[in-house]
Amino acid sequence: MLFFFMNSGFEFLSLGELREKKSYKWRQYGGNTIPLTVAEMDFRVAPAITSALQDMVNRSDMGYLGANPEIQEAFAKFANLLWGWQISSNLVRVGNDVGSCVQEILTVITQPMEAVLINSPVTNFAKWILESGRSIHDIPLIEKNMNYTLDLPAIEKAFEAGVRTYLLCNPHSPVGITYSKRDLSVIAKLAKKYGVTVLSDEIHGALMFDAQDFTPFLNSCPEAGDVGICISSASKTFNISGLKCAIYLSQSSEINEELDRIPESARHRASLFGVVATTAAFESGLPWLLDTIDVLEFNAQHLISQLAMNLPQTEYRKPDFGYLAWLNFGDFNWLEEFAKADVALLSGEIYDTNIPNFARLNFATDPAIMRLVFDRLSI
Ligand SMILES: Cc1ncc(COP(=O)(O)O)c(C=O)c1O
Repeated sequence: MLFFFMNSGFEFLSLGELREKKSYKWRQYGGNTIPLTVAEMDFRVAPAITSALQDMVNRSDMGYLGANPEIQEAFAKFANLLWGWQISSNLVRVGNDVGSCVQEILTVITQPMEAVLINSPVTNFAKWILESGRSIHDIPLIEKNMNYTLDLPAIEKAFEAGVRTYLLCNPHSPVGITYSKRDLSVIAKLAKKYGVTVLSDEIHGALMFDAQDFTPFLNSCPEAGDVGICISSASKTFNISGLKCAIYLSQSSEINEELDRIPESARHRASLFGVVATTAAFESGLPWLLDTIDVLEFNAQHLISQLAMNLPQTEYRKPDFGYLAWLNFGDFNWLEEFAKADVALLSGEIYDTNIPNFARLNFATDPAIMRLVFDRLSI
């Protein structure tokens, strides 16, 4: 496969270069293992980010983070460009990462041990909620042949029974689905009716294979603006999770009063490097992102035939975005076979101990490395 990149600076990293990395993904196993695990992409970051960071290094600009209107404006412009979502930039708040923003927000909008609604199988949410001393109210997604949907009647019942906080994964990871504007509006209207606050984690929202598929929760209908908080970051989209910067915002003055109670110390925990890199990404990273999405969609599509040829019992639905494939291995002993091939996946058990034999495969890598993975598996 030949890709024609449009001078965006997109580049694959070779296995040799990847093995030199100090990140968790590449340190966890070492040796000959190919890790298709942690949500990090095996690509060089966008040149706009590299030069912004190099400039800071050259000027020894490594101090504490202060007021930074540039990131607020950059996110507002990016959201308008990608999704036609108009926000006033002064509403954008900065935090350390999405997980810690969720935890800080939970401490001001909920009471200890209060229930927070999630839809399993879902990324890290249960851990964050439990670590914050809150409890989980799970309304699992409904699955039919690997197609997942929200159980809206059960969600309404939970609201009716008194659950006041909903941590929504929009779009949903790891199952890889987006929600329609209609479904998001239903959630917003129910939330308004029952006095529920919706925290919408939108970290994967800019990685859509078709940008039209994604609706920011706050932009779904007027009621969403009254009940929602958007939490996002450039960390997944632009591959800069180690730089520690996330953003969150609400368009409701009542919710903003609550968010103002987040301690000042938490507001300074983002890193200056993260803020500058995120600003550069939102301002100038789009050409790189479009090339990245082309590669990701190629790998997502190609995985259908790679699985059909090599592991035909595996169930897989091509995700709507991003780089995580959610696989149902059925009766196949994937743990043993992948261990023999020296390829690591994340077991689905980390999301939900009740689901047997699922795994998450990160395909954000050179298609040549994906070929190597299946060559190893077919021996
Ligand atoms: C939906 C979702 N939110 C948040 C995170 C973690 O983000 P952060 O590193 O900013 O806490 C992940 C990481 O895998 C994720 O999939």
